[in-house]
Amino acid sequence: MKNLFLIGFMGCGKSTIADSLEKKWHFNRIEMDDELIRQAGMSIPQIFEKYGEAHFRQMETDFLRSLAAGENQVISCGGGVAMRPENVELMRQGGTTVLLTATPETIYARIGQDENRPMLKGRHSVSGIAELMEIRRPHYEAAADLVISTDDKNADQICEEILAAL
Ligand code: S3P
Repeated sequence: MKNLFLIGFMGCGKSTIADSLEKKWHFNRIEMDDELIRQAGMSIPQIFEKYGEAHFRQMETDFLRSLAAGENQVISCGGGVAMRPENVELMRQGGTTVLLTATPETIYARIGQDENRPMLKGRHSVSGIAELMEIRRPHYEAAADLVISTDDKNADQICEEILAAL
């Protein structure tokens, strides 16, 4: 198998699904955010503060390029990865891209108060999340080979849907 890229808005369940695919279905799991935190030796808010968002986006692209060259990995992408055409092309060449979706209400309930996500700054509300989601939606949809809604489903159901579609 080539790779499986999980994309979607913050809090849509990428990490949870990657975790299940690793534990139960024995994929090699990569958590992009965690690796970038390790590389930089600081948290994501600290990277944004010290070097700026553009620097973080370049770190993502550089890392994605090396990941896309590998195989048999499930890659939980940061929520902004699908915004760059260059990244979308890397994912297209590197495997299958699965978009996980959830309503703004679900996202708010899961991560609405999280201070560790700089893109939520000033958006700690259902409407703030909905606004950013609408801006991003066309990019997510254009990048995806497969779209799966996660509202009211458990991780096993979502994984089975993904595996059935592959
Ligand atoms: C971001 C999402 C985050 C992280 C960073 C930026 C985004 O990842 O990469 O805070 O732009 O949507 P998660 O989607 O895992 O929260």
